[in-house]
Amino acid sequence: MAKTKVYIFYCFLALLLFITIIAVIFNNHPLEPACPNGTFHNAAVAADTRKCSEIGRDILQRGGSAVDGAIAALLCTGIMNPQSAGIGGGSMFTVMDSSGNVNIINSRETAPSNVNPDLLNSCRRSSNMFADGNGKWIGVPGEIRGYEMAHKLYGKLPWADLFQPTIKLAREGFPIPLVQGKAIKKIDKNQTPSLWEAFLGENGTVNQETRNITFEKLADTLEMIANNGSDVFYTGKIAEDLVRDVQEAGGVLTLEDLASYNATVTDAWVVPMGEYQMYIPPPPSGGALLSLILNIMKGYQMKSSPQSTDQKTQFYHRYVEAFKYTNGLKKRIVDPNFKSEEIKKAKQITEDSFADRIRSRISDNRTHDPEYYNLTSYLDSMGTTHVSVLAGDGSAVAVTSTINHIFGSGVYSRSTGIILNSELSDFCGMTDKISPGEQPPSSMAPAVLKSDSEILVIGASGGSRITSALASALINHLWFGNSLKEAIATPLVFVDSKTSVEVELHFYKDVNMTLKALGHLLKLADDSYNSTVNAVEKKGGCICAESDDRKRGEAAGY
Ligand SMILES: *[C@@H]1O[C@H](CO)[C@@H](O)[C@H](O)[C@H]1NC(C)=O
Ligand SMILES: *[C@@H]1O[C@H](CO)[C@@H](O)[C@H](O)[C@H]1NC(C)=O
Ligand SMILES: *[C@@H]1O[C@H](CO)[C@@H](O)[C@H](O)[C@H]1NC(C)=O
Ligand SMILES: *[C@@H]1O[C@H](CO)[C@@H](O)[C@H](O)[C@H]1NC(C)=O
Ligand SMILES: *[C@@H]1O[C@H](CO)[C@@H](O)[C@H](O)[C@H]1NC(C)=O
Ligand SMILES: *[C@@H]1O[C@H](CO)[C@@H](O)[C@H](O)[C@H]1NC(C)=O
Ligand SMILES: *[C@@H]1O[C@H](CO)[C@@H](O)[C@H](O)[C@H]1NC(C)=O
Repeated sequence: MAKTKVYIFYCFLALLLFITIIAVIFNNHPLEPACPNGTFHNAAVAADTRKCSEIGRDILQRGGSAVDGAIAALLCTGIMNPQSAGIGGGSMFTVMDSSGNVNIINSRETAPSNVNPDLLNSCRRSSNMFADGNGKWIGVPGEIRGYEMAHKLYGKLPWADLFQPTIKLAREGFPIPLVQGKAIKKIDKNQTPSLWEAFLGENGTVNQETRNITFEKLADTLEMIANNGSDVFYTGKIAEDLVRDVQEAGGVLTLEDLASYNATVTDAWVVPMGEYQMYIPPPPSGGALLSLILNIMKGYQMKSSPQSTDQKTQFYHRYVEAFKYTNGLKKRIVDPNFKSEEIKKAKQITEDSFADRIRSRISDNRTHDPEYYNLTSYLDSMGTTHVSVLAGDGSAVAVTSTINHIFGSGVYSRSTGIILNSELSDFCGMTDKISPGEQPPSSMAPAVLKSDSEILVIGASGGSRITSALASALINHLWFGNSLKEAIATPLVFVDSKTSVEVELHFYKDVNMTLKALGHLLKLADDSYNSTVNAVEKKGGCICAESDDRKRGEAAGY
């Protein structure tokens, strides 16, 4: 009897040893597949910059939720790409918890209660990517209320922990990142004096190689929010400072506007997309526009990338036509709390039957004059950032955040270090009247796509170019079978508010010609600001994360 026990004991020991050896051989993950180089086993973050992806990743590694990682990465983006996003703006979260339930947290800016009824008369005639320094376009910032709501619902780590890495970085400083440096060089002293003073100081030059940039004032502000909670921003000391600075710059923001701002939680809209369910935020986000483009293109049933000139021409012609029709429908994207009767019309455009109707009107051999598409005189814009996160427990966050134009309104609040948004200009060409509290329409479409075995977390920056950047990445990845990296790198084609077709530099020369022959007006896309796609995907147990190279992004994971 005793002998048998000893025997079993040794057998058990041998088995244990065997399992350990196997575990070591298979990279400590005995039950997981060997993932290819550059992919991850557990979790990943794709933000605009490597540093912010790493900060998000570190938060996940410390046991943070996907929301925790996303907030930390966004706070970091506020100093690495302060021209794109920050706490003076607003954001849209699509959050999937580990059991697959999806919620939208909307903290987009709202029109202040004293919004000038004649504001829309001063909309610019032509698009300008850069801030004009006028405070009249500033909406009530929702960013911090959004973080607070997301953290309250899904946070695991203490609130202050999400701020610490960025506060440290803001105080210590860092060499000016390439993309931020390019934006700084465009700051105009006369138009945006407060911004000029903050970024260029007494010398008026940026030496990207030697200059260490710090954000001392913003660090103080972030520290107050970290230690005292969001109320200090909405009802406390920061609110007072911010309102004073905004009013001085010609804005109409009041203490009451800040005090009554609420982030909202709503259901996602779900659109079937092949084997996936695509979760997108409802209006005023642009998710419906993205789903319309995808549904129109889906009907052409293309299974691989177009190869010959003829195939490419056909594909891009249809794609461009789909965008011309879709741009003419932008007016349906409105704040449902103010124009509830419009929401049905917006929902319609996500339906297959609607896409079928538009597809049937697309002719393979012609295009139409701009008037045909019923385009409104909306303004093309650039800006924004996006963070995609997939956490170890399977929960996911796609969050797009913005201050609208490059450097928002161009108003820098000297007493808080906050750059204010220019979100109210998104109403231009889209509505005849702005109501206090109303949110302007947006192209932002943070999306989570889920099938039985896969999950794809994706979103884009780039103002009105967001829809094209996302559609291109999704079509090239999901339908044409290109890797996520290749799909994102595919040369982009945008259709602007005047139906001009803007192509990226590396777009096919042959197709350039054939599209012109079909009657499209082609121009080279301005690349002084780029739209970008950042995505994380889990497939077969491995996680692939890609940040767009157009903004020199890099993802991080473990
Ligand atoms: C301005 O130039 C001076 C002299 O070159 C230099 O010492 C200083 O650091 C510069 N300041 C900024 C903000 O770049
Ligand atoms: C932070 O909160 C504490 C206690 O709630 C309060 O005494 C203090 O004034 C607050 N600080 C700011 C800057 O609002
Ligand atoms: C925000 O929520 C508070 C508390 O529920 C409410 O009193 C306030 O009216 C809300 N603000 C707005 C603008 O709806
Ligand atoms: C376009 O194609 C249709 C049939 O698909 C044909 O009837 C028509 O003549 C063509 N138009 C031109 C301008 O080639
Ligand atoms: C433009 O509007 C008119 C009138 O509402 C409508 O008949 C037409 O179908 C619209 N055109 C497109 C391309 O949607
Ligand atoms: C495509 O056409 C545009 C507009 O004519 C031109 O600026 C661009 O250089 C062309 N691109 C290529 C790759 O030929
Ligand atoms: C945008 O991307 C292109 C191509 O990668 C690059 O040449 C250009 O410098 C980028 N623009 C900015 C502002 O970084």
